[in-house]
Amino acid sequence: MNRNFHLTEDEKNFLADRFETPFMVISLNKVQENYLYLKKQLPRVKVFYAMKANSTPEVLLQLANLGSNFDVASPGEMRALNALGISGSRMVYANPVKTLSGIKLAHDLGVDKFTFDDESEIHKLASYAPGAKVLVRVRVENKDAVVNLNEKFGAAPMQALQLLQLAKDNGLIPAGICFHVGSQSLSADAYITALEMCRELFDKAEIQGMHLTALDIGGGLPVPNEKVEAVDVDSMTDILREKLDELFPDTEIWSEPGRFMCGTAVNLVTSVIGTKMRNGQPWYVLDDGLYGSFNGLMFDHWNFKMKMPADKAQEKVVPSTFVGPSCDSIDVVARDLPAPKLEIGDRIMVPNIGAYSTSAATSFNGFPPADTIVYEDNIAVSSDIAVG
Ligand SMILES: Cc1ncc(COP(=O)(O)O)c(C=O)c1O
Repeated sequence: MNRNFHLTEDEKNFLADRFETPFMVISLNKVQENYLYLKKQLPRVKVFYAMKANSTPEVLLQLANLGSNFDVASPGEMRALNALGISGSRMVYANPVKTLSGIKLAHDLGVDKFTFDDESEIHKLASYAPGAKVLVRVRVENKDAVVNLNEKFGAAPMQALQLLQLAKDNGLIPAGICFHVGSQSLSADAYITALEMCRELFDKAEIQGMHLTALDIGGGLPVPNEKVEAVDVDSMTDILREKLDELFPDTEIWSEPGRFMCGTAVNLVTSVIGTKMRNGQPWYVLDDGLYGSFNGLMFDHWNFKMKMPADKAQEKVVPSTFVGPSCDSIDVVARDLPAPKLEIGDRIMVPNIGAYSTSAATSFNGFPPADTIVYEDNIAVSSDIAVG
């Protein structure tokens, strides 16, 4: 799998003549392709899309229509799905520590699957979602993940069964175990270690009289970015599929992909709104920045590729600085980036910006997050995805 959604220069300019920049362009065909790819590579896996990655309603509906389920983290996410007619039975509330109002809302909406990683959560769930199915989240170390999620989340594996037993004693259903290897994991190694550890825990649980039925392998699948151009999701998912079949042939397998589902499906178009020279280097002020679509530089350890206008492709490049529009000097998007001489109005395209971008953008200084427009609704396309 290596085709990414890239607007052509003509498409970028066509859209930028119609819509004010900055804007995100999402290809719903690409979202569908990503979902179907996962179902092909991991046919036994029940997908719960982690909507925190990108909660654009069109994406949620597209995935719902394809049969996806959803990983939710908050009352706001449950309400958004509910407003689209997606029932609670298709959600797992996978934030290990939940607000009381969140648990109550989940119970009202028919959400009956929850994850947890501490005893304190058991008492909350037992009171406000009695009889719920619970999965204990265990910690997994992973040096190959760009975003470490295991410092804040996950019980020590040796505590997992104790916690499930306590959940059972409190009237909850100990359904299984979950983990997250960390986001943007660049190898399958941590999944393998985690699966082997979970197999041991499943066996010990059986001996203790708890028959666990579900294993949730979380998210973590990577997408390309400026630092890592090629990611080998084919071999990662091949390895995962084989290991799941070997170790868990009879267990229901869930996963919570976020980044993989939408990361490659979105391009940002942003314009130069100002130019200046600082210490002998050109600086370009864009109409989108760190507080907007580029917030992944801060929150997601991300490196964005910036595609310069095609008519400047032959020009000499010099180290340049790109900044956002806010009145804050932390608002730097790129430093020392080799770039041609740009002018006000030049449009830059940023591929693979579909995950953890719009969903975490702020309105700081009154600049609203970039709108999302749907590629297929605005560009007459044949059945195929444009490849740039
Ligand atoms: C509980 C949980 N599940 C799934 C995801 C999605 O992970 P990814 O985007 O790496 O697929 C996250 C990301 O933070 C998460 O916290």
